[in-house]
Amino acid sequence: MEVQSTEETYIQSLFAERIGGKMFGKTRGEYKFEKIKRAKRAALAAHPGMELIDFGVGEPDEMAFPGVVQTLQREAVKPENRGYADNGIQEFKDAAARYLQNVYGVNGINPVTEVLHGIGSKPVLAMLPLAFINPGDVTLMTVPGYPVLGTHTCWYGGTVVNLPLLEKNGFLPDLDSIPVNVRKKAKLLYINYPNNPTGAGASRDFFEQVVRFAKKNGIIVVHDAAYAALSYGAKPLSFLSVNGAKDVGVEIHSLSKAYNMTGWRLAFVAGNERVIAGYGNVKDNCDSGQFKAIQKAGVHALDHPEITGEILAKYERRLRSMVEALAELGFSAKMPAGTFYLYVKMPKGIRQGKRFVSAEEFSEFLITEKLISTVPWDDAGPYVRLSATFETKGMADEQRVIEEFKKRMGGLQFEF
Ligand SMILES: Cc1ncc(COP(=O)(O)O)c(C=O)c1O
Repeated sequence: MEVQSTEETYIQSLFAERIGGKMFGKTRGEYKFEKIKRAKRAALAAHPGMELIDFGVGEPDEMAFPGVVQTLQREAVKPENRGYADNGIQEFKDAAARYLQNVYGVNGINPVTEVLHGIGSKPVLAMLPLAFINPGDVTLMTVPGYPVLGTHTCWYGGTVVNLPLLEKNGFLPDLDSIPVNVRKKAKLLYINYPNNPTGAGASRDFFEQVVRFAKKNGIIVVHDAAYAALSYGAKPLSFLSVNGAKDVGVEIHSLSKAYNMTGWRLAFVAGNERVIAGYGNVKDNCDSGQFKAIQKAGVHALDHPEITGEILAKYERRLRSMVEALAELGFSAKMPAGTFYLYVKMPKGIRQGKRFVSAEEFSEFLITEKLISTVPWDDAGPYVRLSATFETKGMADEQRVIEEFKKRMGGLQFEF
């Protein structure tokens, strides 16, 4: 959070407690990504002319594909697309249901009542608590992870109970360990597979266990499938493809990562009709829908899942080289089940004498000393996340970047 040097006025006394009350903007918050940005700027200034190896970025490094861009160009000039889209055009909802069937084998989604779009999946996650959380209610959140559903739960007076994702459990939450009193208050369970940041995938068995757990305890499952299409080796898996999933929850799909469309802001949520209706009510009171021309470009994307195939091949190639490089350096790195992230345990130190007490410290060391950017996670053990979305000057340049990474890391002699 930026420290603001404003003159004190009555405005300062009016901020809501949820964002800090009268202290809003006066304390340096610990928002990790702000810190990383600051460390990056400082490191660049300290090493002028040196190339930044940026494994810290969480979004695609390339443009949306030509067919998608051309559809937007064509649709943007049509008068019928100019107005409010409200809760979305039926064509996009139809395409979403088709996509679920074609790519994930999910049958029987009613595109009229069981699908709605979102201006990205982030606002969907932000709005769901508005539909369900009363003061005192609990949301179960896996950590480390994408915190938006939890943040909004707290803003409406709810409580977040964290479910740690541990390596020994395959980075799946241990649902059996959730105490009965917590289960009683829990209304929402957030899961995300393939998972950011761990790269872990979920099995059909795990999803079946989630359905049983949700039914037994009367909990709504929110499956964040932002990376579901980016799965390596196995066919991508949808929570909705599991028997009974639609009785207990919804799944959110994003076009951001699967189609290089982060800035376009387009996603959809599908599944339980009552959850979709609640979200629709809230959404109608929060926004007026994504530009129809963007939704039509989204239809083109969803009908061309081979685009994701091409994107996936690039990430797989890069991730394999990164895994090899990290393994040579002594890290225990392996190909993730999905996403474009590698999640590796922090070394204890380097032979030259330095010890690391947290992933945050290790990550700061890498950026400051080696101009290598990573994202640290200390929520469930010290790990750093390296993303395969680094920018290059074409395919041939990828290997050069990875070799440069190896060279810079090579002199450090890590101890694990
Ligand atoms: C797990 C996860 N969920 C959701 C999002 C948000 O994606 P969108 O661009 O659809 O809002 C992200 C973005 O990084 C993410 O990592």
